[in-house]
Amino acid sequence: MRVLGIVAKTHDSGLALLKDGVPEFVLEEERYDRIKKTTKFPKFAIHTVFPETGGLRISDVDAITTPWDVRCLRRTFLSILGGRLPMSLSFLLPSSHRAQQNEIILLNRYIERGLRRHLGASTLPPIVNVGHHDAHAAMFFASPFEEALVLVMDGYGDDSSSSAYLGRGNTLQRHWSASVLNSLGLVYTFVTEYLGFAGFGDEGKIMALAAFGENTYVSRFRDVVKPTPDGGYAVNMDYFSYDAFGELRPFKRKFFDTFGPARLPGEPLDDRHRDVAFALQAVTEEIVVGVVRSLLKKFPVRDLCMVGGVALNCVANAKILEQTDVRRIWVPPCASDTGAPLGSTLWHYHQNLGHSRGFELTHPFYGEAYSDDRIREALAKAGLQYRRIPEAQMLRRVAQDLADGKIVGWFQGRFEMGPRALGNRSILADPRRAEMRDHLNAQVKKREGFRPFAPAVLLERAAEFFEIDQPDPFMTLAPRVRPDKRGVIAAAVHVDGTGRIQTVERSANPRYYGLIEEFGRITGVPVLLNTSFNRKEPIVASPEHAIGCYLASGMDVLVLGDFYTTDKGPNGAMRDVEQVRATSAREAALTAGAAAPP
Ligand SMILES: [Fe+2]
Repeated sequence: MRVLGIVAKTHDSGLALLKDGVPEFVLEEERYDRIKKTTKFPKFAIHTVFPETGGLRISDVDAITTPWDVRCLRRTFLSILGGRLPMSLSFLLPSSHRAQQNEIILLNRYIERGLRRHLGASTLPPIVNVGHHDAHAAMFFASPFEEALVLVMDGYGDDSSSSAYLGRGNTLQRHWSASVLNSLGLVYTFVTEYLGFAGFGDEGKIMALAAFGENTYVSRFRDVVKPTPDGGYAVNMDYFSYDAFGELRPFKRKFFDTFGPARLPGEPLDDRHRDVAFALQAVTEEIVVGVVRSLLKKFPVRDLCMVGGVALNCVANAKILEQTDVRRIWVPPCASDTGAPLGSTLWHYHQNLGHSRGFELTHPFYGEAYSDDRIREALAKAGLQYRRIPEAQMLRRVAQDLADGKIVGWFQGRFEMGPRALGNRSILADPRRAEMRDHLNAQVKKREGFRPFAPAVLLERAAEFFEIDQPDPFMTLAPRVRPDKRGVIAAAVHVDGTGRIQTVERSANPRYYGLIEEFGRITGVPVLLNTSFNRKEPIVASPEHAIGCYLASGMDVLVLGDFYTTDKGPNGAMRDVEQVRATSAREAALTAGAAAPP
């Protein structure tokens, strides 16, 4: 039985294909159309799953699911629209909610039209709408737990902003929710914008920035979001007007009177900005920890799944482990809306249809893979000299390059689901060199100097370097680096002494594991610095994207599958990524509008 989960008209457009309860594909459209958090119809992803050249057809699919219940969303939208008349009529303006388009309330019709147009199908499988938080929560079905608390926290869903479920076997039951506008996630997003960064995307930067701040505003911020006696929380709307104006005017004067004027993008960051970020992060942690504690009192369960955009806050997740009775925490690699299509398929398969569970998500590699011929073609088109090297020799060679201080673009197999590169589309470097972080930020990634890099460590050696006693394969926790190791992996330690860890298991990614193991053999440190293979753009998907990014940045080595190059091409100099990025014939045709989006 196949279920196709699909979403568009909201950030993180994409799809997932489930066969008998096991994912076959999880694809975000941004990897193809190169627009971060794209809202467009996932036409590239559709053509990957249903190739024009034959293979799977839409008639092989039994049901289509969406991670939004459009009827519920319509009701919520109408109630918000009528909530603070006449000001709330501003929700009719697209600019009041840029991350989501008005047309999402007609999502079913839009998806049907798009599939018909792109696949030429006259009949389609039935569309099943799944509640947004139900779709997030359904990641529990792919977790290692037979029974767990499931906490969903995001900006907003179709009927709530936070929800708690109890998951048992192949069922989930919701026990608590917070209303759509009473949203810790929205507060985080709007304060991200107040600090001059992009909402619905840059929240992780604020989490990193917070570590540089001090406790100046925490007590004042505790008045902005407060715990409630029922174990939930309440946003104090004396500070906000997003319930009337959305993104057009999210704050009331009281917020500026309390925390000062907003920072414009590009303005210098000062202590006040860092201290507001600190307060936001501190209060977020307090609220999340408080909600988890109250759930633990009600339900005698000690394992926790965290899902939704707020679950990307790896610092808060680590605090849950530190400060509550939670024994194990599991956050999927696609905790944000990137995983919502997959969640909607899992909900339908297990919760609606009652199928038993038989699948655990142990790796994130459900994207597209590219053939050796395609890689060779891309290298030739870019005019790069390269060598094909057998695996064992390749691992030794690249590990030695890394030990020598070289920066390596590492492109292997199928790309990852979710917002993080976890070893198949990664830029890798030596974590022992303290200067590496600044060099990577400034020269390779072209991003803010305060951004940390994640240490990828062999699972068996993780406890030696980090204060952690559970696996974290998806970079969802920021445990403390052991004091005696902070000098050893200096470039991987954030200013607060934590590291955004990824534990790597051989079975999940043998080649990546082998590379870290080899680096450990040479240096005694089985840890690599890992950052996503991109530069401000979405993470690369194809060999052409990877070559373009490599040539435009300060990377020293590029590895594409079995192919190795240090060549910078005919001009030998850095080139603009847009000029060198060649596209495949299929992508070129789709981009040119041979199959125009609906
Ligand atoms: Fe969500």
